[in-house]
Amino acid sequence: MTIRTITEGIYAIGAIDWDRQMFDELITLPQGTSYNAYVIRGSEKTALIDTVDPTKDECYVTNLVQMGLENVDYIIIQHAEQDHAGTLPLLLELFPKTPVLCSEKCKGLLISLLGVSPDRVRIVADDETVSLGDKTLRFMMTPWVHWPETMLTYCMEDEILFSCDLFGSHYATSDLFLSDTATTGILAKRYYAEIMMPFRSSITTYLARLGTIKIETIAPSHGPLIRPATWILDLYRKWTAEETKNSAVLLYVSMHGSTKEMARFLEEALIDNGVGVTVYNVATADSGMMAASLVDASTVIIATPTVLFGPHPAMVSAVYLANAIRPKIRYAAIIGSYGWGGKTVETIKGMLTHIKAEILDPVMKEGAPDEKTRQALLALATTIAEKHRTDPDIST
Ligand code: FEO
Repeated sequence: MTIRTITEGIYAIGAIDWDRQMFDELITLPQGTSYNAYVIRGSEKTALIDTVDPTKDECYVTNLVQMGLENVDYIIIQHAEQDHAGTLPLLLELFPKTPVLCSEKCKGLLISLLGVSPDRVRIVADDETVSLGDKTLRFMMTPWVHWPETMLTYCMEDEILFSCDLFGSHYATSDLFLSDTATTGILAKRYYAEIMMPFRSSITTYLARLGTIKIETIAPSHGPLIRPATWILDLYRKWTAEETKNSAVLLYVSMHGSTKEMARFLEEALIDNGVGVTVYNVATADSGMMAASLVDASTVIIATPTVLFGPHPAMVSAVYLANAIRPKIRYAAIIGSYGWGGKTVETIKGMLTHIKAEILDPVMKEGAPDEKTRQALLALATTIAEKHRTDPDIST
């Protein structure tokens, strides 16, 4: 890893992790990730913003040594999660007199998660500024993007927003700045879906506040820096807006083919009715892509067989995740085949606690689908198309 110049006096000194495939044993990383950390050298003082995942501490310390920093005045920690704060204990040994600046909640987490001594930490407030001489840093408290302690840092003279996890993407790339918009776009969308979407209403508030300051560059904690900043701000405004698309996400799993046959029939009926549809077999699907599809879809269809009197465990896992990330879904339907009864529909309905959707009539069939099943699925497709056509918040 090398040190890269963002603008005069501001440098990227983080690490690219090409090999990482999972985050939290939950989020798949098809393109790896990066842990972005920054140095800001003002005319009088120097600050570090965030550190890196402890697995990359050697790379980070090498960069620090290459920078030739004899003194650091502030270590700014925007977020206590280990991929950004994990190397802080080592940093505190390297710079034994430098204070850590962070939010009040972050202080508690640094103490409990990383064993940081309380006397090394100075709490900063919302809108507080610190001067580095010719560069001024302003802090903005942004709880719940995606932890309760998170804050952002704005370099006023250079109009750079250090946005922590917000606006990031899990993307290992040698590009310092956004260049491949197609790849970054989909990686940023799946990142938003899995990490930020549950906090959509908070983000809407922060977007309004960020709209009042001039931002040329966004420097997130993962993925390439975004310049012009409007590229990612506009995407986030779209993803967090109330409006959804004339599309459905069809999640299915099948044991002996009956539920799959029903899913395929409904998929074609939706297309015939002019509704866009994306289909995932949840037994093998990439959960990140599934989450990304849920960002702007209007309807989710859950197609599952009944196993041991309830939904298939693979579907339970998928529905749990879909519910946890709180998509804007407006309509939901449950379909599937069963052998001799069970409580599949009730179980899934009971899991949809965070999805504020109208639950449409289910189509459940004992055994293999027949003509009556197909008619019921056709009626379901027609109902979904009609709901989409008449809902003012769905763009058709
Ligand atoms: Fe990238 Fe919430 O840590």
